[in-house]
Amino acid sequence: MENNRESWGSKLGFIMAAAGSAVGLGNIWKFPFTAGNNGGGAFVLIYLIFVIFIGFSVMLTEFAVGRRKNLAAVGAYKSVDSRWTFAGVLGVLSGFLIMGFYPVVGGWALAYVFKVFGGLLTDPAAIGDVFGGFITNPVQPLIWMVAYLLLNVVIVVRGVSSGIEKAGKVLMPLLFGILILITIKGLTLPNAMAGVEFLFKPDFSKVTGAVVLAALGQAFFSLSLGMGCMITYGSYLNKQENLASNAAIVTAMDTAVALLAGLAMFPAMFSFGMEPAAGPGLVFVVVPSLFAEMGGLGVVFAALFFVALTVAALTSSVSLLEVVVAYLMDERKFTRVKSVITASTIMALMCVLASLSLGGVGPKLFGTGAFDVFDLLTDKIFLAIGGMLLCIFAGWRLDKEDLRKEITNEGDIAFGIFEFWYALVKYVIPVTIAIVAVSGIKSGFDSGVGAIMVIGVAIIAIFAAISKKL
Ligand code: PFF
Repeated sequence: MENNRESWGSKLGFIMAAAGSAVGLGNIWKFPFTAGNNGGGAFVLIYLIFVIFIGFSVMLTEFAVGRRKNLAAVGAYKSVDSRWTFAGVLGVLSGFLIMGFYPVVGGWALAYVFKVFGGLLTDPAAIGDVFGGFITNPVQPLIWMVAYLLLNVVIVVRGVSSGIEKAGKVLMPLLFGILILITIKGLTLPNAMAGVEFLFKPDFSKVTGAVVLAALGQAFFSLSLGMGCMITYGSYLNKQENLASNAAIVTAMDTAVALLAGLAMFPAMFSFGMEPAAGPGLVFVVVPSLFAEMGGLGVVFAALFFVALTVAALTSSVSLLEVVVAYLMDERKFTRVKSVITASTIMALMCVLASLSLGGVGPKLFGTGAFDVFDLLTDKIFLAIGGMLLCIFAGWRLDKEDLRKEITNEGDIAFGIFEFWYALVKYVIPVTIAIVAVSGIKSGFDSGVGAIMVIGVAIIAIFAAISKKL
């Protein structure tokens, strides 16, 4: 049965698909506003440290576990010990929760392709209000969300190598190019340097437990880690690939795009006199404002930007959907089509709640709306703890020599820092994540979200308790 597993068409295909999963709204939409909300430079520095020491190592671990077991996340855990099944199922839950808001934002990006042509740029002063009015509208964003989700369905129904791989290959270079263009344009504006300074000059007085946890969560979210996505992708990877260099390339590309997105946004923002803590509207306001003064050409560039953003989002959300679909296919024996339809229907309903919550409509948990609850649970709790569990599993439950064999392709290739990586995975990363999570949850109580985080931890505990039944 294992031999029938679909696999990637080519080496480039895998890197592009894994990088496609990593590079998405997390880099271009979330990173800039999260950096803005968390005080800038110090957050960025902590984020980079986490990416290098935790992100890369966790990614390599996910690839290795996935390829070794030749199974998606849940199956990989379960095949070793059914008490660990919960760690995989937690990843599936994260997939659902992230897909409970990601397509809402993907829908905004898609809508903006058309809004740009519809005269958005002709009244620069109104760009901020247009965004606010759009996302709080009860109907409009839902239509775009559904359109966006349908694109995911079409790609994932077609299967791994034919669908995801092609989408990944085409649009990444375009996105990179447009971000560079935006950066150059932004840097030439008056007062642009204040933005660069905000992004890269650390002010450690702004660091709290919440900031450190936000940086950790951002690293996991941006690199698509902690929920088994890269385990699933790794399981489709053939035995000749070099896992460590693949992980390094994907990590570097993802980080480069996030930093570039920051550099594209902040100089322009400071020049326009906007608040760095502008929130989720940041890209949707800054980019159109930046291109507004360029006339007709500006319209074309802005539209290209939102096309590229939509596609970057798509190559990420298909990987999220794929985690859930792989679970339904492997563990519940659904067909691919049935899995995709079941999963996306539930996701669409969650997205309706998330989108309505931005207009203040719908149920709240401790005063927080659905959009923020889904984001908070995954970004602040489930992904990081999922990564911690994976490291504990790999370090304490799997055989060290097996891991060595997997990473070195049975001794064919060298991985000079194996011992260092192994020590990080076995000891340093689990302890670090535990400390950061505890202090982050403590500061969560200052901003009123501590209770939701505690509920997240309780969910994990319940999952662990009923693991064998999952
Ligand atoms: N890494 C994606 C982004 O930055 O937009 C989001 C994501 C995809 C998170 C896949 C987790 C995941 F498994």
